[in-house]
Amino acid sequence: MKVLVTGGAGYIGSHTVLELLNVGYEVVVIDNLCNSSIESLNRVEELTNKKVTFYQVDICDREKVREVLRIHSDIAATIHFAALKAVGESTQIPLKYYQNNVHGTVSLLEELQQAEIYNFVFSSSATVYGEEAPVPYVETLKTGVPSSAYGKSKLMIEQVLEDLVKSDTKFKVANLRYFNPIGAHESGQIGEDPNGIPNNLMPFVSQVAVGKREKLSIFGNDYPTKDGTCERDYLHVVDLAHGHVKALEWLEDQSAGICEAFNLGTGNPLSVLEIVNKFSQVTGTNIPYEYAPQREGDLPAFWADAEKAKTKLNWTADKSLEDMMRDTWNWQSNNPQGYK
Ligand SMILES: NC(=O)c1ccc[n+]([C@@H]2O[C@H](COP(=O)([O-])OP(=O)(O)OC[C@H]3O[C@@H](n4cnc5c(N)ncnc54)[C@H](O)[C@@H]3O)[C@@H](O)[C@H]2O)c1
Repeated sequence: MKVLVTGGAGYIGSHTVLELLNVGYEVVVIDNLCNSSIESLNRVEELTNKKVTFYQVDICDREKVREVLRIHSDIAATIHFAALKAVGESTQIPLKYYQNNVHGTVSLLEELQQAEIYNFVFSSSATVYGEEAPVPYVETLKTGVPSSAYGKSKLMIEQVLEDLVKSDTKFKVANLRYFNPIGAHESGQIGEDPNGIPNNLMPFVSQVAVGKREKLSIFGNDYPTKDGTCERDYLHVVDLAHGHVKALEWLEDQSAGICEAFNLGTGNPLSVLEIVNKFSQVTGTNIPYEYAPQREGDLPAFWADAEKAKTKLNWTADKSLEDMMRDTWNWQSNNPQGYK
């Protein structure tokens, strides 16, 4: 079966393309490379000994998307990763986020509808639960109001997809709400390669470990959590990639007209300090850190109720925290400059 993967050159996309190829899917990637490098897919090809068909195409470019769908008229499903994802930046340039993420997705969906490609897996986020939701987050909760334009763009897309399925019941949609993906493929050949100063904890920690940055700033040590630092539900990116394969299989078995959300997380919250200490312990590196003021919009703690994905998708996050730390370090120390 052939799958269209938008944003497939990115961090989660490249790991998912690798898993798809490993279980026998053919993959067509479209990515404008605004936050990634084609080298990730070259490495996926080396690791799998299989071919990835790649087009440097922006999802907003209707004509080019249409052309790709015309050439590959046998595409049976889409996994949609392409998006801008920097929470802080989205507050400064919200229109760019709404344009790229929301308008880009609507444009893509119109082309998919035209091409009669109805199975759709969407990269959503735990942020759609908003700031008031009780923890752990469970899919039966109503969505809330995310604090950033990035988060709102994810919620808007979920709403667009819900309306689309109601109006055209040939569509089948899985909204995968990711918690905090970290780690890298165990080969150390593909991993997270952020542009500039990393926004997320793990790439920052590993860049400090490799000597690229002097020290880590931990934002807030006075939260009402076990050690005062924020708690999140970290999961291994390879587990997350498997979740996409499971979601595709699940969609295949559903009748048309379905739109469902699934949390993809471990169900186990860990604090920033626990992560930093574990990283040092597993890798034998020293991570100098300092406390900085809380960041606006950061919630003290949230994690997934991961039961629905277990029951319905037959998916659980199996890799250990040690695996996450070891694989992050393996990637970072083998590629101190990322893909450059
Ligand atoms: N990484 C996380 O912590 C996290 C958490 C929740 C949800 N997500 C979502 O998962 C998806 C993948 O995230 P990631 O961490 O792999 O990010 P990433 O930036 O590594 O990957 C996104 C990819 O999309 C591409 N892209 C962006 N806009 C595009 C456009 N208009 N046309 C074509 N390609 C475009 C980028 O070049 C990049 O390769 C995103 O939708 C993100 O919002 C990520």
